[in-house]
Amino acid sequence: MALSTSLLVIEDLSLSFSESQVLKSICLTLDKGQIQAIVGENGAGKSSLFKCIMGIISPSSGDISFLGNRIQNSSIREILTAGISMIHQELLLIPELTVAENIYLGREFSEGQFWGISDINGRVQQLFDQYGLDIPVDIPVKELSIANQQIVEIMRAVSQGAQVILMDEPTSSLTDVEVKFFGQLIRTLRDAHVGILFTSHKLEEIFEFADVISVLRDGEMVGTYDVHALNARTLVQKMVGRDMADFYPFTETIPGAVLLELENVGLSGVFEGINLQVRAGEVLGLAGLVGAGRTDIGQSMLGIKPHTEGKMTYLGKEFTPKHPAEAIALGMGYLGEDRKELGMIPEMSVGENMTLGLMQFFQKFQWILPNPEQAKTKELQTKFNIRVKSGQQKMEQLSGGNQQKVLFGRMLINNPACMVLDEPTRGIDVVSKFDMYQLIQEMKKDGKGIVLISSDMTELLQMSDRIVVISKGKQRGELLRKDATAERVLQLAL
Ligand SMILES: Nc1ncnc2c1ncn2[C@@H]1O[C@H](COP(=O)(O)OP(=O)(O)OP(=O)(O)O)[C@@H](O)[C@H]1O
Ligand SMILES: [Mg+2]
Repeated sequence: MALSTSLLVIEDLSLSFSESQVLKSICLTLDKGQIQAIVGENGAGKSSLFKCIMGIISPSSGDISFLGNRIQNSSIREILTAGISMIHQELLLIPELTVAENIYLGREFSEGQFWGISDINGRVQQLFDQYGLDIPVDIPVKELSIANQQIVEIMRAVSQGAQVILMDEPTSSLTDVEVKFFGQLIRTLRDAHVGILFTSHKLEEIFEFADVISVLRDGEMVGTYDVHALNARTLVQKMVGRDMADFYPFTETIPGAVLLELENVGLSGVFEGINLQVRAGEVLGLAGLVGAGRTDIGQSMLGIKPHTEGKMTYLGKEFTPKHPAEAIALGMGYLGEDRKELGMIPEMSVGENMTLGLMQFFQKFQWILPNPEQAKTKELQTKFNIRVKSGQQKMEQLSGGNQQKVLFGRMLINNPACMVLDEPTRGIDVVSKFDMYQLIQEMKKDGKGIVLISSDMTELLQMSDRIVVISKGKQRGELLRKDATAERVLQLAL
């Protein structure tokens, strides 16, 4: 009977926030040992669906049952205990505690006995061995890479006996190699009959990992499909409701004057000997593995991390910004990879976040100005298809991808001549990515100089006129677009 293999059954689930309906009569089934991708555009309702399952928000109507028992009125704790866990985007580990302590957190006294540190270490080691994980169990979690921290969180769920694990954009901060490993891990979980729901905006991994794909559009379930029944084109069609054009636009331009020049620039202990030029009308890609120093170099260009060696020149003048507000005032733009740390103020409205201006944001003290740019804000909102109810809506209520779009729009309000975009499309759906690529092309034609940092190799190869490869804080080489291939970039990066 079909019932016996179902872990989670959702029927007719609806959710509203005040006047807007976010989920509409959703039906979904997750089976034992199944990996199911939930895909949809930014704001489609993926994270909200997960929060309903976890009891973080209460649906307006509908049924959720787990192993045949209704759970939609249960508390988060009851749902965890029943066997459903969620891996959040912001990891919920305690940085100072060890790996093993984090995994056993809150359960030192359980199963009728008190677990001492050595018991805990031993048990976690056993679990890690079972899953072929090579992570030390007795070091503080803060010493691990993000990818390994995420694995610790997944293993915490496993050790708590989770039979269903929800993962909201689990791979968005992982490198290609880490994504491969993550794939192996979830397959091992599948073999252990765990059911997994995950979201992602990266089509390749959706097709690589998922057994079935459920598509959400505007809060409605379009359908659930066997992975072999879809291809990239038909999937996007279902997500968007129409056919999509050519994915990577690229325009040949003849680069103009040098806007920004780095001569032997370094930041002691972080990177050194960087020589590069950003010219008007070109996209300069910075390639490298995560941790190579690309973000640090980008941040030096803005004075977020002022350089300590060498010389920077901007528009022909020596340029030593000590603070991003200085660089922005001179016409630099910046979109950071971490929107929480270097971007938005979650408690403030979308309108305020946008018109606050990047400069004021960095100056902090020069608070909200009356809004002279309302029209511009509106224009950008339409251009990017930013889904907000009104400019008054709080930033924290926006879906992840829409927050990113607001920040991109905000950067453009200043009309910068030269800009650094660090992982600009992270968390952005396929349609908006296309919009953003198009916009980058337009800016390029407009004579702007763009530094693009991206871990998405295809994106970097397709969008860049030139690529500078960074590894371990040093410049390893430069490739022209016509000579750049993934292999050559990796060869230099390794
Ligand atoms: N607390 C809230 N109050 C009002 N609206 C909200 C709230 N939380 C979410 N929403 C709205 O619900 C809709 C769905 O958001 P959700 O975060 O589920 O989207 P998503 O599919 O996860 O998108 P993304 O791919 O960008 O992460 C969005 O329009 C969002 O603005
Ligand atoms: Mg989301």
